[in-house]
Amino acid sequence: MLAGGVGTRAGLKTPKQFARVAGRSILAHTLAVFEGAPEIDEIVVLMTPGHVRETEEIIAREGFRKVRAVVEGGASRTETTWRALEHIGEGDADVLLHDAVRFLVEPAIITGCVAALARHRAVGVAVPSSDTLLRVDPAGDGEVIRDIPDRAVFRRAQTPQGFRLEVIREAYRRALADPGFAGRPATDDCGVVLRYLPEVPIHVVPGSERNIKVTHPTDLAIAETLFHLATTAIPQSATDLAAQAVTVLGEGPVADA
Ligand code: CTP
Repeated sequence: MLAGGVGTRAGLKTPKQFARVAGRSILAHTLAVFEGAPEIDEIVVLMTPGHVRETEEIIAREGFRKVRAVVEGGASRTETTWRALEHIGEGDADVLLHDAVRFLVEPAIITGCVAALARHRAVGVAVPSSDTLLRVDPAGDGEVIRDIPDRAVFRRAQTPQGFRLEVIREAYRRALADPGFAGRPATDDCGVVLRYLPEVPIHVVPGSERNIKVTHPTDLAIAETLFHLATTAIPQSATDLAAQAVTVLGEGPVADA
């Protein structure tokens, strides 16, 4: 469980994994999903330095029994992943790496990821992009469009990402031996495998639009709304869903005709 970030973009006083939704921290929500997943045997939490004790208290209070350790994360996400792998050590295991701030991850995504690891050595979770993607001039400020690629061949990456332990360890071993890696770090773990073990195909399983990464303040508001929608009555139709959204968000200002 990768919870070692500081959450600069969220602009909160504490790391965003401690932000509360319905009286519970985001971290606790996410851990509860993995604690309840029958496919998960053990959890290691990687935490922002200075917040380990607080995390242990949350785990004790919540009674999470699968959490084996809380370990300090690193300065970057990839450094945090490497610390997790060092803690796990070598052996025969499947490992899922998950952004702790994706607290709306559904159990079915975990099931899909683990099931795919029976046949594939590396697995990513992704959704299609409903927005058109633009490739902009890399030399400028992103103000000039250079290409509009076919949206159908793009996916937006989510987590968890799953790997056979020896695959992700070897990819990271090669990355850390590469002097160029620090200057061009990967933003996810599939990216490390793709770059350093290109012979290993990475299988993609479907994620979900709900499985958002809380990054900016608006993400927190959206995720909170989605959480409340899921815990109220299950909507039967798009109209019901819209009506529930209005209830949760409030009617808002009425626009001038
Ligand atoms: N993460 C981590 N260790 C880091 C950086 C990030 O474990 N050094 C984790 C975060 O805690 C989060 C996930 O990776 O669960 C995605 O991180 P992201 O939101 O991109 O980064 P943050 O550092 O949390 O936020 P920001 O970039 O806004 O500072």
